[in-house]
Amino acid sequence: KIYPVILSGGSGTRLWPLSRAAMPKQLLPLLSAQTMLQETVQRVASLPNVAAPLVICNQEHRFMIAEQLRAIDVAAQGIVLEPVGRNTAPAIAVAALMLQRTDPDALMLVLPADHLIGDPAAFALAVEHAATVAQQGYLTTFGIVAHTPETGFGYIQQGTAITDHAYQVQAFVEKPAREIAEQYVASGEYYWNSGMFLFRADDLISELRRLSPDILDACIQALELAKNDLDFIRLDPAAFSACPADSIDYAVMERTTKAAVIPADIDWSDIGAWSAVWEASAKDTQHNAIRGDVITEDANRNLIRAESRLVVALGVDDLMIIETADAVLVAPKDRAQDVKLIVDQLKALK
Ligand code: GDD
Ligand code: MG
Repeated sequence: KIYPVILSGGSGTRLWPLSRAAMPKQLLPLLSAQTMLQETVQRVASLPNVAAPLVICNQEHRFMIAEQLRAIDVAAQGIVLEPVGRNTAPAIAVAALMLQRTDPDALMLVLPADHLIGDPAAFALAVEHAATVAQQGYLTTFGIVAHTPETGFGYIQQGTAITDHAYQVQAFVEKPAREIAEQYVASGEYYWNSGMFLFRADDLISELRRLSPDILDACIQALELAKNDLDFIRLDPAAFSACPADSIDYAVMERTTKAAVIPADIDWSDIGAWSAVWEASAKDTQHNAIRGDVITEDANRNLIRAESRLVVALGVDDLMIIETADAVLVAPKDRAQDVKLIVDQLKALK
């Protein structure tokens, strides 16, 4: 059986001012009436042989998450609460330990709560292919053909074929420098790591034992001392805080010899910045993506969101205009990545 593990711990800083620490992007309705979390949960609920999802998030978000699941009639396997963020490796380790206890043969499908998948049917097929090789002991990741040298992604070089739909990983390089990423894209041999994984819980645990024993031990401890209330599983604050912070990519995927990649042509986007929201949104005849109370005149290719008042765009092109009750962002769309710098400045002011 496949157990979805939904990671909902990020803050989505480049989607400021809509995304905030108290209301991160996965809990916002960015592209449809539903939030990214709700879309993710519903996407997996429709797969065959899939159990109820296990959600892992910061404790601050527990009521919003419980409410969003209730709103779409989903009963979670559980909602695991982290007292502090320790990146993805500990979150996934905790999930693996829990699931392995529930079902010694558990396959876990790790999904970030904030990804867009435009072709759910192709995704379902890719999951099926991944499950086949995960049963043979591979730690599988879903690879997206890399067309542009993004530096915010992990890169996967395809090795020997395992099946018609899966390859061993020749090399996994997390977030390479620009020049390296350019070489990878030019070579045509690389995929982006989508950040979605499928493996047996027991295989992940044994790789963690070998490669990152400190993380595994801290997670065992945090779970042993965890407190359950209702659907919530509260990890022990002292034990979990003592866990080293690391991503699954650095802690395991870059270093394991058991990695496999499933090429996945699924119209994927990690919606990392406002430019990606514009690309994924429905647009008007002037290619403006508009949400809320907005009027445009002689304006092209803009992303405009009005949350609390009327926004008018006259004679402007290629902008992102994000209006909220207490902050407004106006910038060219091609500066979307730099929003992070502003958020860093705001944090420093506090
Ligand atoms: N529960 C929990 N706790 N979730 C977390 C935590 C945490 O401490 N940190 C991050 N997450 C969640 C985020 O919400 C996101 O959904 C997912 O885990 C991945 O974390 P990111 O912080 O967004 O990772 P990244 O974008 O830098 O890199 C990863 O994703 C890329 C694709 O989007 C890597 O896996 C890359 O290799 C990959 O290309
Ligand atoms: Mg990300």
